[in-house]
Amino acid sequence: MANTPKLSMGWFLPTLGDTSAFGDPSQSIPQSLEHFERVSQAAETAGFDYMLVPVTPFCWDAWITATYMLARTKKIKALVAIKPGYFHPVAHAKMVSAMDRLSNGRVYLNLIAGLSEKDALAEGQFGSKEQRYAQLEEEVRLMKRLWTEEGVQFKGDYYQVDGPKIVPKILQQPHPPFFLGGGSEQAAEISAQHSAVHLFWGDYPEKIREEIKLMRQRAAKYGRENEIRFAMRLQVICRETEAEAWEAADRLIEGANETASAKAMVASLASSISSVANARQKELSNTVGRKMTPHLWTGITEVRPGAGVAVVGNPQQVAAQLQEFIDVGCSGFCLSGYPHHEEAERFGRLVMPLLMK
Ligand SMILES: Cc1cc2nc3c(=O)[nH]c(=O)nc-3n(C[C@H](O)[C@H](O)[C@H](O)COP(=O)(O)O)c2cc1C
Repeated sequence: MANTPKLSMGWFLPTLGDTSAFGDPSQSIPQSLEHFERVSQAAETAGFDYMLVPVTPFCWDAWITATYMLARTKKIKALVAIKPGYFHPVAHAKMVSAMDRLSNGRVYLNLIAGLSEKDALAEGQFGSKEQRYAQLEEEVRLMKRLWTEEGVQFKGDYYQVDGPKIVPKILQQPHPPFFLGGGSEQAAEISAQHSAVHLFWGDYPEKIREEIKLMRQRAAKYGRENEIRFAMRLQVICRETEAEAWEAADRLIEGANETASAKAMVASLASSISSVANARQKELSNTVGRKMTPHLWTGITEVRPGAGVAVVGNPQQVAAQLQEFIDVGCSGFCLSGYPHHEEAERFGRLVMPLLMK
């Protein structure tokens, strides 16, 4: 594991609920302050740098839960999702500034267009992904100015402001970093222009190497080819032995498609997902089956949309698989595993020391 740069490690806050077996309702852990606190503190103790706080119709509000989470932890940061048209950029700029100050600079921002057109329309956003990305880009451009200039005058396609007062002043300079995850050309272009970190969902390391090369070429147009960094958003199932890890993987998805909540989620999304990133996750699972490599597993794509590729194995195997992504240019991971407090604790104890040496 020589040659490892300083890694930036993220863990997931399960604001859509938690479990150790999607198919067994008795294992479900509902959302609560106690559970959010348990997961965040486990992640902080394990050595993670930030918590990814998602936004979907099934999640609790990201800003409220992230604020509580930051208040109940000491140093871990919150990577909070920003969705176009959900908050006015002035409101967002002020919320982020206040949170940045109150938490002593523990806010990161994750740009997302959202997975589903149906959900976007349901929540009052534009139905077309192209429009949502265009609006998102305008929001980022405007927020950056609001944090760094006084008396901003702005007339865009979506927003217009006339010298709003942004108090308090943002603490992180020049502003909190943006992350972005998305697989389309439009996502890549916005990321090249604005993100500190571009996030990839699970894929083959060689494919990620190619994607990084392309992303750097895009970023070069903005003079950012050496500035932009890359991270993998993956699931992890690590146990002391490989056999135990595979047992846990099988248990996690066994009978899951039968449950009412899984059916509701799949039905709500299936008809309207237009995500290139999600299509790639599905393509992997449909074409290669569950095992992409001896330790990359697509099983979770069958029970939830989005980040479904998992690293499965004993601590050495998990660390070696992650190292392959580091070797092709990633400098961080945004991970999750079920249930989230237990997997975070195990990862911190068994894998973190192997990765960080
Ligand atoms: C790391 C990562 C995190 C994401 N988080 C969310 C989220 O919290 N909520 C959501 O609706 N979509 C989320 N997405 C989906 C993407 O933001 C994006 O909107 C979607 O993939 C559609 O765009 P695409 O066609 O560019 O892939 C996430 C994607 C990635 C890669």
